[in-house]
Amino acid sequence: RQACPLLTERSANTVNSHIFNWAKDFDGFKKLFHRFLQVKGPSVDWAKISRPPEDSIQPYEKIRAKGLPASISASLNKLVVVKLNGGLGTSMGCKGPKSLISVRNENTFLDLTVQQIEHLNKTYDTNVALVLMNSFNTDEDTKKILQKYTHHRVKIHTFNQSRYPRINKESLLPIANDLGMSGENSEAWYPPGHGDIYASFANSGLLDQLIAEGKEYIFVSNIDNLGATVDLSILNHLMSQPADRRCEFIMEVTDKTRADVKGGTLIQYENHLRLLEIAQVPKAHVDEFKSVTKFKIFNTNNLWISLPAIKRLQEKNSMDLEIIVNPKTLDGGLNVIQLETAVGAAIKSFDNAMGINVPRSRFLPVKTSSDLLLVMSNLYTLDAGSLTMSKKREFPTTPHVKLGSSFTKVQDFLTRFENIPDMLELDHLTVSGDVTFGKNVTLKGTVIIIANHGDRIDIPAGAVLENKIVSGNLRI
Ligand code: UTP
Repeated sequence: RQACPLLTERSANTVNSHIFNWAKDFDGFKKLFHRFLQVKGPSVDWAKISRPPEDSIQPYEKIRAKGLPASISASLNKLVVVKLNGGLGTSMGCKGPKSLISVRNENTFLDLTVQQIEHLNKTYDTNVALVLMNSFNTDEDTKKILQKYTHHRVKIHTFNQSRYPRINKESLLPIANDLGMSGENSEAWYPPGHGDIYASFANSGLLDQLIAEGKEYIFVSNIDNLGATVDLSILNHLMSQPADRRCEFIMEVTDKTRADVKGGTLIQYENHLRLLEIAQVPKAHVDEFKSVTKFKIFNTNNLWISLPAIKRLQEKNSMDLEIIVNPKTLDGGLNVIQLETAVGAAIKSFDNAMGINVPRSRFLPVKTSSDLLLVMSNLYTLDAGSLTMSKKREFPTTPHVKLGSSFTKVQDFLTRFENIPDMLELDHLTVSGDVTFGKNVTLKGTVIIIANHGDRIDIPAGAVLENKIVSGNLRI
């Protein structure tokens, strides 16, 4: 099984095309860096935060209850799906684009996305297009793979996000020696977060092209969120608003659990809905921010945004996204910072923005191999590129899975499972140390398997583990 995408050595072409874009990138970087130097203190005044007004975050059920009109195909024809594809699979031990990792039945994140949209286009006889926002890290490998979808019924466009220079934390000077990407310079550049989408989309010319083709909204999401499918009820809600109260931005939020302390939340601030990220919260209020009682929902990063509104705000230069300062230590030990922005932070700039509180199933991110185990298992069924929870599972919640560091890399993960265990009745699984699973293992209830340093545990083929703790040494 091929775990990670094959990586192309960066060719001279990639380097040149990026030098060519540098004028636009530099312009964007200059503005961001200038704002960074000007900002003093926290970007929100805690005393001015209030709960969003009642009707600004609507329950999904209310939106769905309206039903779908016959004109839904016409609405679909005005929609474009955008996937944020700038990220690498590094945290899962892969070097290439994350979207090219196989996640289910040999299908990659990208394969599943293409299948979903193709299914929509065939079912409704529409032409919903797919746009990938690539970064200099993912563009070349992604474009090579795209050839395989030539005969699918989905038009695929790509554009590149910006490439900004990493800055020395002490001197605040760029660490790059020149505009190239090789040798010492390979760690000198970064893609500046998904908030970069607005400027890069406009600069690429694709925004204007899609508007000219009659497209009105984009549905943006993280490519690693397998729950982010096109939802027809939300699309219909957008399209059926009266022209003078057109909603320009919808953020899908979902109920927070104690495990979701990191995600941004929606607040009311200076008469607008605003995204509040943990990085903006003053230290004294971090516990309050994390609590599930005061801030009940978090951002799934599934966003529906009006294309003409993006154009208007870009032209007025009035999207003022909060800067996220991301500190990093490079391989040689050098401390740098990279300035980033988040796509959802733009909510405050759009007219009639709202949140929709969607079911948890629309947030199914695959960030770790523990997440991967869940989506590969029989807890889910795959249909036309979409994963849904199996009807055979009696509880609607997913089990809590914690795989140890021997499973972190996808390649290691795959060699440790002969096939994926039956997990339909599992509540909790913890695995630590040198553990392997034989064929057709069943896990039920709470299962804890711990191989201490120097030990190895091979779970035999056909084993049924129910509410069990396994430790020590067990070789087969
Ligand atoms: P990440 O995986 O980096 O972020 O990117 P996250 O931890 O889920 O959380 P948020 O959403 O940033 O808070 C999420 C998506 O954004 C893309 C990644 O490829 C992934 O699909 N991304 C991230 C870009 O396209 N460009 C970037 O510069 C950063």
